[in-house]
Amino acid sequence: MTDALAGRTCVVTGAADGMGRATALEMAREGAAVVVSDVQDELGAETVSLIAELGENAVYVPCDVRDESQIKVLMQTAVAQFGGIDVLHNNAAVHEVAIAGPQPVDKISNELWNLVYETNLRGYWWCTKHAAPHLKRSPAPAIVNAASTASLVGYPGSPAYNAMKGAVLQLTRSTAVDLAPVRCNCYCPAGVETPLLESFLEGAPDPEAVRQELIDNYLVKRLGTPEDIAKLVCFLASDAASWITGAVISVDGGALAWRAL
Ligand SMILES: NC(=O)c1ccc[n+]([C@@H]2O[C@H](COP(=O)([O-])OP(=O)(O)OC[C@H]3O[C@@H](n4cnc5c(N)ncnc54)[C@H](O)[C@@H]3O)[C@@H](O)[C@H]2O)c1
Repeated sequence: MTDALAGRTCVVTGAADGMGRATALEMAREGAAVVVSDVQDELGAETVSLIAELGENAVYVPCDVRDESQIKVLMQTAVAQFGGIDVLHNNAAVHEVAIAGPQPVDKISNELWNLVYETNLRGYWWCTKHAAPHLKRSPAPAIVNAASTASLVGYPGSPAYNAMKGAVLQLTRSTAVDLAPVRCNCYCPAGVETPLLESFLEGAPDPEAVRQELIDNYLVKRLGTPEDIAKLVCFLASDAASWITGAVISVDGGALAWRAL
């Protein structure tokens, strides 16, 4: 712990579970007050309790990122509770394979496509839009967007996820340009041990074989952990990254350094 985020207020979407929870906890360890938001209220409240056990401040605000009015309330509550917003972490996302198994581009339903679009892209944009006035008042503002190796290569049966994660790269660059000096960066994980990855693997005919196939394709022979990602997000949010903006950072065990899986 370095207190790299001491005195900062961080808003994290999808912080009830997975990497969002790990990041919320790591932000708290680094001294931040954390606004935990999600659609899973019980797990969201549990994240807040875990932060309280660390002796840090957090509040849970229910927020479905597909609903702009809930996003407005999220940002207003952050400001009312902690006096401003210094960091926005756009993390909440869904994956069509995790929901319904492989969905080839000529088969995916309009409903599923729209669900992925509304969560993984429009949600990031709306959160950015409604956090922006507050971030502009921060002395050290930063946005960190969760992208994916699917932003960079096409995975089979995942056309909406691939498309929206690809768009996150350009949203990140546009945000960095339009909101400067607010910094905005994104990162691209490969497989990370979370509920999303478990549901994704369950959609495969032989989940264990796919898990092993993933690991075999990483130069570092393991899946990622939520903590691997949480540390990167905290770095990107901190002053240590003060000259990094508009960047796309791989965090993938070397997967894309040699081949795409
Ligand atoms: N796990 C991986 O292997 C992996 C790899 C690359 C990128 N990612 C990305 O990392 C981020 C975190 O993924 P994860 O694996 O921790 O996912 P996860 O499913 O384990 O957790 C995501 C959280 O987002 C919440 N959420 C879903 N829809 C929401 C909505 N409409 N509004 C608010 N919250 C909502 C869920 O309730 C959940 O708590 C996502 O952007 C994901 O696309 C994950």
